[in-house]
Amino acid sequence: MITALTRKDILGTKELSVEEIELVLQTAESFIEVSTREIKKVPTLRGKLVINLFFEASTRTRTSFEIAGKRLGADTINIAASTSSVVKGETLIDTARNLEAMNPDVIVIRHSAAGAPHLLAKRLKASIINAGDGAHEHPTQALLDLMTMKEKKGRIAGLKVAIVGDIAHSRVARSNVYALKKMGAQVVVAGPATMLPRDFGQIMGIPVYSQMEEAIKDADVIMMLRIQLEREKQSIFPSLREYAQRFCLTESKVRLAKEDVLIMHPGPMNRGIEISPEVADGPYSVILDQVTNGVAIRMALLYLLAGGARDV
Ligand code: CP
Repeated sequence: MITALTRKDILGTKELSVEEIELVLQTAESFIEVSTREIKKVPTLRGKLVINLFFEASTRTRTSFEIAGKRLGADTINIAASTSSVVKGETLIDTARNLEAMNPDVIVIRHSAAGAPHLLAKRLKASIINAGDGAHEHPTQALLDLMTMKEKKGRIAGLKVAIVGDIAHSRVARSNVYALKKMGAQVVVAGPATMLPRDFGQIMGIPVYSQMEEAIKDADVIMMLRIQLEREKQSIFPSLREYAQRFCLTESKVRLAKEDVLIMHPGPMNRGIEISPEVADGPYSVILDQVTNGVAIRMALLYLLAGGARDV
């Protein structure tokens, strides 16, 4: 078991080793308790500077990175592209170099372009955390998903995890497939053909279904994905109603899975389109547990990258 991360940046789960994933999960588990204290703060990253640089909208990821930094005692600054000099035409790299001149320890970036965090990682001394780059990766989401599965099921290896919906646009799906496979889970995906990249199954080495019922049969975990209407260049299904008829997770479809199935969704949800309100708020849903664990995972990553004291 390793006790430290030697890498500078967290750009994707594709490049993380099993040992690194285990270290992040174990560190996050140790941070859960901090968030339950009356004074939810430890001085571990006192004097460190974390900048959250978000070029796309976010509720969960941006807020949880800010909370994570503050709970560890770091100074955290949030920059939204819409209120920055990006609107005056400043380039990504110029923005990042100007921020680096203020000596941050970690820059968390979300950007619509795949590879934007990788560009900063190459050019800057600060550690870079990918908070979602286009349809490429969202590694911190996958790590909090794994943490939630491990917390609820006691293991990840051997679980059947069905990921359903808009696979083509989903950085969450990609990061989860990489991480879950490494940790020994059996991953399957389902979605309409127009939302499944050609050769996705072959490239990722997993079964692909066009009927969600086949994918979720006997599943331990069902992860529903949001239809990303904002990323669609053209209509890829005739109507939301037709999509919902085939791919909305309803109570009757849940009964095809194992009787102790976990229902997950990264959020934000389109209620009634990919998941029914009864399922989203029902007894098998761990959607809000995912959000809670998101703070702990982000605390772990900031701690491991920014070199906090080891005695938490
Ligand atoms: N899951 C997720 O990334 O949510 P936000 O877009 O609200 O950050």
